Order: sequence, then structure tokens, then C-alpha cells
Amino acid sequence: MRDVSQPLLFETSWEVANKVGGIYTVIKTKVPVTVQEYGDRYHLTGPWNRFTAHVEVEEIEPELDAVAAALAAIRADGIQVLYGRWLIDGAPRVILFDIGSAAHKLDEWKGDIWRVAGIPSPPNDIETNDAIILGYLNAWLFGEATNCTASMCVAKADTQHAIIAQFHEWQAGIGAVLCNKRKIDVATIFTTHATLLGRYLCAGNVDFYNNLKHFNVDEEAGKRGIYHRYCIERAAAHCVDVFTTVSNITAYEAEYLLKRKPDGVLPNGLNVVKFSAMHEFQNLHQVAKERIHHFVRGHFYGHYNFELEDTLYFFTAGRYEYRNKGIDMYVEALARLNGRLRACNSPITVVAFIITPAKVNSFTVETLKGQALIKQLEDTVAEVSARVGKRIFEMAARGREPHAEDLLTEQDRILLKRRVFSLKRDSLPPIVTHNMVSDHDDPVLSQLRAVHLFNNDDDRVKVVFHPEFLNANNPVIGLDYEEFIRGTHLGVFPSYYEPWGYTPAECTVMGVPSITTNLSGFGCFMEDNIVNPQDYGIYIVDRRLKSADESIEQLAGYMFEFCQKSRRQRINQRNRTERLSDILDWKRMGIEYMKARQCALRRCYPEAFEEEEEEEGAGASSPYGSGPGAKLSRPQSIPGTPLPGADLAMYDLAALSISAELPGVRTQEDEDHDLRPPIQLKMKTPLMTPT
Ligand code: UDP
Ligand code: G6P
Ligand code: GLC
Repeated sequence: MRDVSQPLLFETSWEVANKVGGIYTVIKTKVPVTVQEYGDRYHLTGPWNRFTAHVEVEEIEPELDAVAAALAAIRADGIQVLYGRWLIDGAPRVILFDIGSAAHKLDEWKGDIWRVAGIPSPPNDIETNDAIILGYLNAWLFGEATNCTASMCVAKADTQHAIIAQFHEWQAGIGAVLCNKRKIDVATIFTTHATLLGRYLCAGNVDFYNNLKHFNVDEEAGKRGIYHRYCIERAAAHCVDVFTTVSNITAYEAEYLLKRKPDGVLPNGLNVVKFSAMHEFQNLHQVAKERIHHFVRGHFYGHYNFELEDTLYFFTAGRYEYRNKGIDMYVEALARLNGRLRACNSPITVVAFIITPAKVNSFTVETLKGQALIKQLEDTVAEVSARVGKRIFEMAARGREPHAEDLLTEQDRILLKRRVFSLKRDSLPPIVTHNMVSDHDDPVLSQLRAVHLFNNDDDRVKVVFHPEFLNANNPVIGLDYEEFIRGTHLGVFPSYYEPWGYTPAECTVMGVPSITTNLSGFGCFMEDNIVNPQDYGIYIVDRRLKSADESIEQLAGYMFEFCQKSRRQRINQRNRTERLSDILDWKRMGIEYMKARQCALRRCYPEAFEEEEEEEGAGASSPYGSGPGAKLSRPQSIPGTPLPGADLAMYDLAALSISAELPGVRTQEDEDHDLRPPIQLKMKTPLMTPT
């Protein structure tokens, strides 16, 4: 019997050391707490992205015999595998497979997956082909490592430790299916971060949530050309010991679309970095805001007639899913906000950014020119100021009182005049920073044009569509995404389909207020756990019970209300927002992952727990922390009012001996200067009865 007290853990995903979207953030930010728990018994597996791996991963030799032997067997067949440390906080071991180097196996594996699991795979779907290769390589690895595959390295396989394999999202699903079909001796978990059908249906014009129970899933998947992918996802959900997802709303969706009720919900956390002084994140806001100001001066040259002291920066960001991410609603609400600010002669200007990658050719000449002109002006002013400084000094040293008219020479005046002239322009500041491949029918541009947001001088809402993710080497907004967020005032994420939604969560831990919806996992989580999230700068738009028009009104209302705040109020609100970050820390959220792993071990190796339960009483053991018998401490959460009728919030891995702890919602700093009330948490909604 395998030893469940010191299990090995393999977590596999397409986004290991390979950034695509939020799953990368899940994997990367969770590493420190997982490494703390598993140490060298933890491995991540995924595809070998040749563009990024050389800077992200340091190659090393595997130390565990079972892993070394398994890799030797796989490499012997010509497949290239990188084993190393991912150079991130926690430095976990990663096993990255070169998918291309296994292409010679693809036909064989496609035939096999059809035979063993009835999963079809059309010829030209590269993503599915890659998923099949990744799945077979993972199953190969686990088979070798556990002695469930005949090979020359069997002697080195691990027959002692229990092994847990956790698969993220459908792209990793084939591995889960094969572990089941080949009876590989591992405890399995499949975690889906969305459902394929959900994402596709919502992106179309479907009333998704009201019809969830009634979709003919096979037919809908077939109509969208994703039947084979859907088969992988559904098979994975059914083949594992434990099936989980990231929020209650997605659990509800998965139950109907994948036909298995998830065993639990694993909400996403973040690796929260606490500053020693509270004001430090406020200072960072000021510094980053200055950098955004610099961009704005250049972008709006010739029409820079507004006060930066009275300018607020709003933004939305994420993958370009126009409807799912609620970009449609954001643009419409901005147009209404513009109307309202103009109507009340507000002194406030809002610069609203849209950051989402689209097909582009390059920055526009106008965009680059704006930054170049402002840089030139800045340089000229610096030169002239230096000369003026020298003159003042010389005059004063000679005992002469300097007069303003003596300070600028004719030459300086002409130079400055030339710079000022070059800042005149006939056209309006552009609404997009890049040349778009589909300028004429791009959804964001079309809607900005439809609602007449053109950056006119009298518009109180200006827009900047930046159709590329940000990075510090960007010549236009030279900030990485995190710095950019810090410099803004409000993140706006009015998603229609959002299983979790890291973007507002990331704002929260940086102390930036945000708007989300009650259709996003994060929004629901906050609504379920915090009394009055709005007091903490988490605004939740109702997209469940309101019509689209009413939701837009509500969104525009929140933004308008935000524009009424004084600087003092904004600073206070940021402090409150930042206080929520402990709630989102993996130190707390990671507990749900522990429960899932515990549950998988119990289901896979029930006999290992029977003995223990006989000795210590039912549910007494936990393989985490300091070994068998270790329990996590009792919750410190402050009981509040439970939400009436929170029927979505009933998925949880119950019946396990672990109770959720909420470490340090109040920080030491709170204790020291304790004038602030504790964050009011809601009581947890009832737990699901275990099966
Ligand atoms: N993101 C980024 N650069 C940007 C905008 C977004 O790296 O310019 C990241 C962001 O930090 C977040 C992820 O993209 O972690 C998006 O995750 P989310 O869960 O919000 O959505 P998903 O793309 O997974 O649907
Ligand atoms: C931070 C800084 C302050 C600054 C303020 C501006 O709190 O520490 O020095 O005045 O940001 O806030 P605002 O909301 O106007 O960008
Ligand atoms: C998915 C979802 C997103 C979630 C992320 C991480 O990509 O679209 O809402 O935050 O996975 O779980």
C-alpha cells in the first residue's frame, strides 16, 4: 500500500512557464505555498515554450529516481524534455515537454484515444493535437514513475509514495483520462477554469444563465465545431477522483454542461506581498501615476486642455473576449458617463484605457510622434532651465538681482516657440494606439465610433485603446502591467462570462478599487464573504437580475459616483481596498487545494485511511503540514449575516478534517493603530454533504 503521508504532487497545465491568461497566474502565484508544503516532492509539467523557457527555466538534473528514470525512458524515444527549476518565487521543479518532438507519435495517439475513450480528433485542430500529445506524455511520465508501464526502468519506479496528479483545464485533460483508462496508480484531480461550451455560448448572443439547464450539450458543441474538445473536457471531469472548478458559478455551470457536479471549489488566490509601511503602496500609486501622466501629455498633445490634477485613470484589461469580458458594457457606460460629466460641468476628466490584445501591425505614427514631441519638449525645457539657472547664479554672484525678462535669451525663446508650434495638430488625439489589422470591423473601435467617443476637446471622458498587453519595454506606455495598475484609479471589469477573473483581484491586492459583476467568480466570492464590499472599493454590477440597459446604468452610476470623490476620499478608499488583500492570499485560499488533494487521496486509497480512522477516529488525519494527524486550526472569521438564498454557494469539499483558517485578515499594523473596525466577513454558506 502506498504511503499517503508524504505524497508526491504533479500539477499539469498548458500554462506552466507559458503565459496565456489567468491560469498562468494561478499556477505561478500558488507555487510558494505549494513548495512550502511539498518541497522537492512537487513538480509542474507542461509544454516547452522555446521562446520563453530559456529565460524562465534553469536546467538541472532530476533528483528523484522515479522521475529520472521516467524521463530517461521518454527521452529514449526521441522526445525532448526540459527538467529544471522555474525561476520564480518558490523555484519549483518543472518538466517541460517539447510537443513538436513527439509529433511522430501523434497519429498513433489519436487512434488510441479514440479506441480507449471514444474521443474523436479532427485533423487540423492544432490546439487539440497539442493537448493530445501533452496528455500522452504526462500519462507516460506517471506510468513510468509509478511502475504502471512496462519499461526498462521499472526497478526505479516509485512504489512507495502515493502520487497525486492535478490536471488544469481541458488542454491537460487527456492525461487525466489516460490515468483512469490505464489504471495508473495515482490519485487524480481535474480542475476546470471555465467550460468550453460556457465560454462559446456566452460569446455568442445567447441568454446563457437562464437556459443553462436546457442546452443540448452535444448539439451545441457540434454546432460550434468544438465537439472533440468538449469530449476531452467532459471525459476528464468524469475520469478523476476529484473534480473541481474555481467558483460556485462555474461549478453550477459545469454541473449542467459537463454533467458532473464538482466535488469542490478552489477559488484563486494571489501571492500577496505586504509592504512594511501602509503608505508605501500609496507612494507607488503616485509614482506610477506620474508615468501615466507622461504618456497622456504626449498622447493628447495639441488638445491637452485638461488638468492632470483633476484627471482620473480608469481601465479594463484582459484577453480580447469582447462580450464575455464586458468590454461592450464598459464602452457604452463610458459614453453615458461622458454625458453626465458634461451635463454637470464637472472639472473631472476621465482617461479610460482598454488594454486587450488584438491583431495589430505596429504603433501608429501619430502615437509615436506624440511621445517623441513631448520628449523633445521635455529635453528642451531641461536645457533652457539649466541655462536659466546658470544665468541666475551668475547674476546673483555678481550681486545683481535677477529680473524675469533677463533670464530667457532670444535664442531660448525661439527654441521654445518652435517646440510649442510643433505641438499643434489638426486631428484629434487617436482613440487607438496601434494600426489594427481589422480597423474597419474591430468590435471595440466600431463601438467607440458608434457612441462618438472621439477624444473631442469638450469630452470629459477620453479613451485610449491599447490593443496589446503592456510591458516595460513598450515605447509608448513604458510600464509593466502591475505598475500600470498601481498608477490608475479604478479597474472596470463588467464581465458576462468570468469563472474567476484575476484582473479585479489583482487591483484589490494593489489597493486599487475595481468594478466587477455578480456573474464573475471573484464578484460572487466577495459578495458571499464580505459585508458591503462596496465600502472596500469592490463595486459589483448586477448582471443577473437586471436588463442589459439597467446594468449599464448601474455601471455608469458607479463610475460617476467615483468621479465625485475628493482626493482624501480616494486615498481612504484605497487603504480600505488594500486591507482585503489577506482574504485573497494563497495562504488562505490554498487550503481549498489541500482539501481537494486530501479528498483525492481518500478516494484513491481508502484503505490507507481506514486503518488510521480506526486508530484515531473518523476524519482525523491530514497528510499536510507536519505529517499524519496534523490539523489546521479553527477559523478566526467573524460571524456575520449569512446571505439569504445563496443557492450557488453550496459546493465545497466537506467532511474533511480540515477547517478553513483565516490568518491575519487584520494586519499587525491594524492592531497597532487600531482605529479601524475589522473587515466584516459573512458566515460561510452551508457545506455540501460529502459523497
Ligand atoms: N494581464 C497581463 N497583462 C495585461 C493585462 C492582463 O499580464 O496587460 C494578466 C492579468 O495580470 C491576469 C491575466 O492576464 O492575471 C488575466 O486573467 P483573468 O483571470 O482575469 O482572465 P483570463 O484571461 O484567464 O480569462
Ligand atoms: C497617494 C500619495 C499622495 C497623493 C495621492 C493622490 O496617496 O501618497 O501623496 O496625493 O496618492 O491620489 P489620487 O487619487 O489623486 O491619485
Ligand atoms: C480562466 C477564466 C478566468 C479565471 C482564470 C483562472 O481563464 O476565464 O476567469 O480567472 O481561468 O482560473
